[in-house]
Amino acid sequence: MIKLIGPMSIALALGCSNSVVAGDASAGDQLFHESCHACHGPAGIGVSSYPKVSGNPIEYTREKLIAYRAGQKFGPNSALMIMMAKPLTDEEIENLSAYLKDAKYK
Ligand code: HEC
Repeated sequence: MIKLIGPMSIALALGCSNSVVAGDASAGDQLFHESCHACHGPAGIGVSSYPKVSGNPIEYTREKLIAYRAGQKFGPNSALMIMMAKPLTDEEIENLSAYLKDAKYK
């Protein structure tokens, strides 16, 4: 299996014409509340067996989501996350990672 994980591959995947490499946190915010909120709670604070997903470095969240998307298992409930990560694009992962880094429950 060829692994293309890391900031460079993301930058390439987003296209060289796009000078803004950083994710769009407000787009990530919107997507999070549509797709992730139900399990991970408002601002990703975590709910019972669903882990807290906010406050982590961008690289951490990005690599987790890419790994889940590729079908990698971590904990006992990875199947849920693999299902959720499958349809995400690189750009959506970048936006979600940017949002979750500083997401706070207000
Ligand atoms: C159906 C419930 C559910 C939904 C919806 C869901 N998740 Fe998860 N998520 C989980 C569970 C359960 C885990 C822990 C999985 C495991 O055991 O490996 C997890 C783990 C994670 C992790 C890794 C946490 C860590 O530190 O290891 C991240 C990041 C994450 N989710 C982000 C998201 C994002 C972003 C979305 C929306 C696209 C999302 N999740 C939607 C249930 C869900």
